[in-house]
Amino acid sequence: MSTTTTTQVAIVGGGPAGLMLSHLLHIAGIESVVVDNRTVEQIETTHRAGILERDSVRLLVDSGVSDRVLTEGHEHEGISLRFGGVSHRIDFQKLAGASCWLYPQTQVFVDLHRARTRDGGDLRYGITDTEVDGVLDTPTVRYTDADGSRHEISAELVVGADGSRSICRALVADAHQYYREYPFAWFGVMVEAPPSAPELIYTRSAQGFALISQRTDTVQRMYFQCEPTEDPAAWSDDRIWEQLHTRLAGSDGFRLKDGPVIERTVLPFRSFVQSPMRHGNLVLAGDAAHTVPPTGAKGLNLALSDVRVLAEEIERAVHKGDDDALDNYTDRALSRVWKAQHFSYWMTTMLHNSSDASQFDEQRQLGELQSLVSSEAGSTYLAEGYTGWPHH
Ligand code: PHB
Repeated sequence: MSTTTTTQVAIVGGGPAGLMLSHLLHIAGIESVVVDNRTVEQIETTHRAGILERDSVRLLVDSGVSDRVLTEGHEHEGISLRFGGVSHRIDFQKLAGASCWLYPQTQVFVDLHRARTRDGGDLRYGITDTEVDGVLDTPTVRYTDADGSRHEISAELVVGADGSRSICRALVADAHQYYREYPFAWFGVMVEAPPSAPELIYTRSAQGFALISQRTDTVQRMYFQCEPTEDPAAWSDDRIWEQLHTRLAGSDGFRLKDGPVIERTVLPFRSFVQSPMRHGNLVLAGDAAHTVPPTGAKGLNLALSDVRVLAEEIERAVHKGDDDALDNYTDRALSRVWKAQHFSYWMTTMLHNSSDASQFDEQRQLGELQSLVSSEAGSTYLAEGYTGWPHH
């Protein structure tokens, strides 16, 4: 026996992209049902990046999700680029008139989940065996709930917001996939220590990249470049701190504040885009359609930007009966995605070592960093990209 629900939009994936879409559709008077094979608790405890662009913050606040980002997040008016053992501040406010906010993705999820629950959203977590079909006609999503009962959701449109291991992605016929692999990964740690700096420090050193980020007064987030095959369990606290201290060392005497490592993971690292992002009555949003390397923290911001555009197009299709509205979606979304792909690739290659780099490559890289920090035009490009290109 299976139960059937009929709705306007079925959303596969209840992370930030799926929930934000459901929220924006709700504001527009459009019904949706969200399904996800993870539990709420699993999503709340999976650490992701922590930087929101200016317009991501505006979207959360202005659409009535929450203003916790403003009260509990931290406004950052710049970052440090550190190379040759010296830090150079990029002043976002002075150069681009904008800031970004340090506010972990897990908190964005908590806020969105609360908002959808507050507004009576139909959210179904912890399900299994999700299947999508009929995307060229009347799409259906089928799944098994925690009690083993089979359910069916019949919708006018299915949105695949189901992340980098998307099941929806494969349903887009004749799609082109653009890939770039990198010969390294990030070793991410959560540490119990006070903050070492008020803003993020992106570091290029002879031993490789390192990033110093923050979480709270007592817990910090840090990363360093490693081999993609690295086993996190093989790293003692001492070995981790030795890498971080060496990479951050410099003539200015800066020293990281250290403490116990409470979590360690190796993060995958690649660039990926699938185009088009629509096939019939199926559309993709966020990581389901594109992945960026974490340098520059664009992943969540792109996902939020996708669903903002998508909600507008769906609203036009539903309320104005404009059947062609969704035709614009891929082009509108991808124009921003490719800018962000370039930005993330550029930040990555400017700051990481590759094992086959020659001495020429290393000196050229330092020359690039030097020209960036000594040019107002160069620094402004970084400031604009980091704080996020305006939505339109
Ligand atoms: C983080 O705080 O987790 C973070 C910040 C900036 C990045 C990536 C990750 O580029």
